[in-house]
Amino acid sequence: MNHDRHVPEQAEPADGGAIAPDRPRVAAPAEEAITVATAAADASTTIEALLANPLRDPRDKRLPRVAGPCVLVLFGVTGDLARRKLLPAIYDLGNRGLLPPGFSLVGFARRDWANQDFAQVTHDAIKENARTPFREEVWKQLAEGIHFVPGEFSDDGAFDTLATTLAEIDEKRGTGGNYAFYLSVPPKFFPVVVKQLKRTGLANPPEGAWRRVVIEKPFGHDLASAKELNEITSAVFPEESVFRIDHYLGKETVQNIMALRFANNLFEPIWNRGYVDHVQITMAEDIGIGGRAGYYDGIGAARDVIQNHLLQLLALVAMEDPTSFDADALRREKEKVLKAVRLPHDLALSTARGQYAAGWQGGEPVVGYLDEDGIPLDSTTETYAAVKLEIANRRWAGVPFYLRTGKRLGRRVTEVAVVFQRAPHLPFSEDDTEILGQNALVVRVQPDEGITVRFGSKVPGTAMEVRDVSMDFAYGESFMESSPEAYERLLLDVLIGDPPLFPHQREVELSWKILDPIEDHWSAQGQPEEYPSGSWGPASSDEMMARDGRVWRRL
Ligand code: BG6
Repeated sequence: MNHDRHVPEQAEPADGGAIAPDRPRVAAPAEEAITVATAAADASTTIEALLANPLRDPRDKRLPRVAGPCVLVLFGVTGDLARRKLLPAIYDLGNRGLLPPGFSLVGFARRDWANQDFAQVTHDAIKENARTPFREEVWKQLAEGIHFVPGEFSDDGAFDTLATTLAEIDEKRGTGGNYAFYLSVPPKFFPVVVKQLKRTGLANPPEGAWRRVVIEKPFGHDLASAKELNEITSAVFPEESVFRIDHYLGKETVQNIMALRFANNLFEPIWNRGYVDHVQITMAEDIGIGGRAGYYDGIGAARDVIQNHLLQLLALVAMEDPTSFDADALRREKEKVLKAVRLPHDLALSTARGQYAAGWQGGEPVVGYLDEDGIPLDSTTETYAAVKLEIANRRWAGVPFYLRTGKRLGRRVTEVAVVFQRAPHLPFSEDDTEILGQNALVVRVQPDEGITVRFGSKVPGTAMEVRDVSMDFAYGESFMESSPEAYERLLLDVLIGDPPLFPHQREVELSWKILDPIEDHWSAQGQPEEYPSGSWGPASSDEMMARDGRVWRRL
């Protein structure tokens, strides 16, 4: 960052409040923040620079969303997430001019590091994983605000040092007492960190400043533990200061589900039981569990991603249109859908689970789950899960939503496919339409981000043969800029205090209510069915679809 790049101080609405669309959205100013005179002088440069981006549509009069003065405190800086996603995302935000000049980053971990050591780790992570090009001046600016506090979470002294460090940063860098605490740590450490933040007074903002806490999934192990965890956090931070990260909501393609549905008139009239046959939501991964045995074993595919990412996708696909995109309105609609989700009566027939066995991936032999480092030989953790859900409301009654996810599947692909009913009557010969499939609208979340519509078309020639063709929208072709990484968007939203893309505790609990009976059912089943690595999952999953006369989409 560079000091030329600053944004004018201006009043921020309360968390969750509507923000004037024609003003830049900035984090709350603090009294001690960088002097208004400097800020005002710098502001025009920043805004103009951002507006001067040649890729901007000249008709676009919106001003960029920029964070105001603040410090991000990262617990868990030695973890994989920090290295791969969080630290690079912070740099990318800085590089795009979306962080204030005094922005500071404080790492806290059980390492004997000095500030320079953490700065070096950050530097390496950026070099390795940032999306935007490395620019020395941006790095230099960021590096000036990097601090490290060594210590254990249970060490009062270390947290006292953290409090002193933050006060000094405020003094030196004009961060105004605005702190976001990012808990990128296993949930068992939440209680102690949150208590320390309370004890040191760090959880309580002085007049005019803000304090926010960011928590990563898993939000509990089931409904009861999710409630417990929430009690711990909510005893210290008010709900509007808690930001629960579900990084799928930070993905452009996921947000685009809302644009697709509610910014167009083309799809919504047929987005219901009158036209839709069923919906398939797939999150397939080709990777195994890597070095995450400690986290994954005992958790499994359903808790890892169905409880959060896939149910959030379901909610966005199935919800009614919110009255606006502020957090309350959006969350209310998602909650209504999650409340209306029903499990089929016979879970044995409408769920499937599997565990990957040895096989081939990318031309290489790979070991089975039970042979991965750190996995007990008798582990019953599923690495593949499929469930059929129904939504008991007027729009969706009778339309099944099939969700599936798995590791070590044929390839990495996440998509939402809305599959339509067949035309009620085909005035063609059966031969001519023999291979015609059902119309489908497919949101490709990743990779090859885009949307495909599949429909029947006449095959050129003298017969009236009709066959499936696709109409394709690809982000890469329509927009010249690549999408920001999900964590970039979400971190910026935390610093700005903009909550719509963060699930509310009520959504978390409703999702566990859906999953708990399935987990109970599975826990009585013993070993999951094996599937070879590189395949598309266990046979029972295909059988589940076949019972309904359907098939999983081939990906
Ligand atoms: C995480 C899960 O939430 O999402 C991982 O814990 C999974 O198991 C990851 O690999 C996938 O994220 P993405 O963005 O690569 O689809």
